Amino acid sequence: MTRVLGIESSCDETAAAVVRDDGVVLSDVVRSQIVAHAPFGGVVPELAARDHLRAIVPVVEQALADAGLRLAEVDAIAVTRQPGLIGALLVGVQVAKGLAWSVNRPFVGVDHLVGHLLSPFLRRAGLASAQPEFPFIGLLVSGGHSAIYLCEGPEAARIHELGATRDDAVGEAFDKVGKLLGLGYPGGPVIDRLAKLGDPGRSFTLTPPMAQRDSLELSFSGLKSAVARKIATDPPTSDEAVADVCAAFQRVVVETLVTKTVRAAVRENIVNVVIAGGVACNSELRASMAAACERRGLRLFLPAPQNCTDNAAMIAYAGTVKLRLGQTSGFEVAPLTHTELPRVTRKGRGPRGS
Ligand code: KG4
Ligand code: ZN
Repeated sequence: MTRVLGIESSCDETAAAVVRDDGVVLSDVVRSQIVAHAPFGGVVPELAARDHLRAIVPVVEQALADAGLRLAEVDAIAVTRQPGLIGALLVGVQVAKGLAWSVNRPFVGVDHLVGHLLSPFLRRAGLASAQPEFPFIGLLVSGGHSAIYLCEGPEAARIHELGATRDDAVGEAFDKVGKLLGLGYPGGPVIDRLAKLGDPGRSFTLTPPMAQRDSLELSFSGLKSAVARKIATDPPTSDEAVADVCAAFQRVVVETLVTKTVRAAVRENIVNVVIAGGVACNSELRASMAAACERRGLRLFLPAPQNCTDNAAMIAYAGTVKLRLGQTSGFEVAPLTHTELPRVTRKGRGPRGS
């Protein structure tokens, strides 16, 4: 049984974890930078890089201590190589290289999005969870990315984008709407909580984006602008009115994601469905997706919430997959801002397919 130390520093979480190749999580340390970025209403790249540099060694030490292992006892060191903020990625990649070199272990650069899509394979003590079978349809919804993938296997070469957002990521839209409503950063979890208190149909209805098309592409910036217009013309003055806006926004987002994911499964004739990424913590998305999959005879695999938000356990697990396939990285490998998964959807407006 191989054990991999994973390191994650692509955005605003400094994280390290030790995971076995059967998915068992031996340790999982996540240090969030939310407090540092909150006053700015979003992640400040320069601040993120400096904070990773301060936190990363203690976080790695903690992950090894929690697993009861010395560095020389792990079989490889995996790290998020891409996509992400370049200064933030550099910190994790450099530390991982140094650690791998010091104990003469393989160094494995991992794509963060592949890590998210493999997060339902993680097994944590006390949490019963079935591991998905390939092929599956993977809906990845985070602060930086939103796309639907056909996952034929666990490696990047077998993961195919079926449709992605043309503009904002879903989490980004949640956070922007949260900011418009003065709910602080990140807005996603707060909107989730307030939406339960509101009525999605009471104050206004939002038109579902890209609904008329048969495509699997997504778009969220128009929704955010519609909410901004609503707030500008008719500012919510009570807690109830704020909750109604949250409920209306969340409802249309969730309906869109559920419709497109089910459409992808039916079109591709796939029965297994996975949702991943920070927005996969959303309670309405989890409940609606479960109900829709049940109705259509699809099998939904829901990762535990701590597997959905950024963590290093998913990176370590993706590292075990690459290690098994002999896909280790050379020390010349540098971080990249973009994903290695080929993009099908182009950003912006205009006709497709040209
Ligand atoms: O996957 P993640 O931790 O980081 C990225 O790779 O981006 O996702 C963070 C995003 C944020 O935009 C946050 O607002 C959103 O996930 N999020 C949620 C919820 N929990 C986190 N969005 C909606 N409902 C939630 N419960
Ligand atoms: Zn992420």
